Amino acid sequence: ATAYEFILTSTPRPGVGQITINRPKALNALSTPLMKELNAAVKSFATDGKTGAIVLTGSERAFAAGADIKEMAPLTFSSAYKTDFIQLWSDLTQCPIPIIAAVNGYALGGGCELAMMCDIIFCGPKAVFGQPEIKLGTIPGGGGSQRLTRAIGKSKAMEIILTGKNFSGKEAEKWGLASKVFETAEATVEGALETAETIAGYGGVAVKAAKEVVNQAYEGNLAEGVKYERRMFHALFATKDQKIGMTAFAEKKKPEWSHE
Ligand code: CAA
Repeated sequence: ATAYEFILTSTPRPGVGQITINRPKALNALSTPLMKELNAAVKSFATDGKTGAIVLTGSERAFAAGADIKEMAPLTFSSAYKTDFIQLWSDLTQCPIPIIAAVNGYALGGGCELAMMCDIIFCGPKAVFGQPEIKLGTIPGGGGSQRLTRAIGKSKAMEIILTGKNFSGKEAEKWGLASKVFETAEATVEGALETAETIAGYGGVAVKAAKEVVNQAYEGNLAEGVKYERRMFHALFATKDQKIGMTAFAEKKKPEWSHE
């Protein structure tokens, strides 16, 4: 196993990789070295041939309290622009297998953005979401203005981003940002692991295609998306798993996925 400094990795259930952000002294602030480790861990799970879904979580106190403000404080326009600061965060969105964010505690600024880069958000009763960048004299830089607006609509996103006010896990769920809110922090992580295990139990080709077509809906327009989905649906008739799944149904058997 690779030793990381700012994250922990494990395989708590068959086919499920867990990544736990572990920088407690800074409430899991997402520094560049931390994000590099996170990208490496995601890539490693996504390419090991065994992992079908990933759970990304933090501590009970903080999923992540944002990008690292101390790292950003001295940046200039030129240095940020030249290095395309924060661009490496987008690596996460290229992960072919589903990632479930299990959010407890603070998910602020870049922490909220990181959760929104995942495919599903589950949260606990004490989750605190927000985009407080305006209070620091800046704006969201990790896709927050785009993803929050798509998730909860313009008026709410404007209010949150312009006031910097936090919102609760319950609100996140009510507004459709999070798909579920659990009763305790532990239940949140357990629930995410359980859902990840369900997903990892299906044929990997269909799971990848399902993630891809939902992302098409999220990112593109409706007419293109419907066509894209239909073409992907057609393509899946070329897979072994489609034959395995439909034959098993007809024979009243449990499918043994080939992932091909
Ligand atoms: N970056 C760097 N360090 C951070 C941090 C961050 N985002 N958030 C917390 N920390 C550090 C604190 O500086 C403190 O360190 P020291 O002990 O060395 O002083 C430690 O974590 C504990 O934090 P607090 O003492 O502040 O804990 P608290 O319980 O009193 O408050 C909090 C918790 C309300 C979350 C508060 O820490 C806070 O407001 N954090 C910043 C939240 C924020 O503004 N996030 C957005 C960052 S900007 C961004 O993310 C840009 C982008 O879009 C990419």
